[in-house]
Amino acid sequence: MNQPLIAPSILAADFANLQRDVEMINRSEADWFHIDIMDGEFVPNISFGFPVLEAIRQHAQKPLDVHLMIVQPDRYLEQFARAGAATITVHYEACTHLHRTLTRIRELGCRAGVALNLQTPVTALEDIIDAFDQVLVMTINPGFGGQKLVHSSITKVQKMRQLLTQHRSPALIEVDGGVDLDTITSLAQAGADVFVAGTSVFKAADPLQAIQDLKQRPSQTPFI
Ligand code: DX5
Ligand code: ZN
Repeated sequence: MNQPLIAPSILAADFANLQRDVEMINRSEADWFHIDIMDGEFVPNISFGFPVLEAIRQHAQKPLDVHLMIVQPDRYLEQFARAGAATITVHYEACTHLHRTLTRIRELGCRAGVALNLQTPVTALEDIIDAFDQVLVMTINPGFGGQKLVHSSITKVQKMRQLLTQHRSPALIEVDGGVDLDTITSLAQAGADVFVAGTSVFKAADPLQAIQDLKQRPSQTPFI
């Protein structure tokens, strides 16, 4: 099993102390910043937009992993690339011409990610398997932090891993929602590479320690 990549979700940070929280992630063993953009239409919640993203970018010293939970994401790809996104992930369910959207993200110099809601089968991506660098398997219904992982999504990660292996795709599998010390091992064993964690990091008594524990947990548990 590879060393897991940990991507703390800024959605759970203290927005009144954003610089402090961003600097904490800089100092931590985390690998990326996960940035959740919600428009109140694709998901029933609004998070934040470009001014906040720019503020994060000014202090962040690790790649920005931008998760767009918005309708018609094509309208904003260029702006997110300019705002410093290393990876831009769009939802399968929000893109009529997904291949075109992912191609555009790569043209803009970013890694292209595609996210699947719980009901979307992994096979929906089979015919465009070369068009993305990362697939985000939602492990909750998107829109809010602090939810419990939907158990069936662990099997879905396994199916995604099989599909990528079958097509020799180097794409990373990212999981998002309800990731904590109790769920990370099964997700890693199922084949996930990147672990988004909001609540389990920022609401922990010691976030730096929480990140370190998440980073080490999968390798501590024997494979069963
Ligand atoms: C929810 C977001 C997640 C969220 C995860 O739609 O995509 O990134 O911040 O939060 P936790 O880790 O609290 O489930
Ligand atoms: Zn997310």
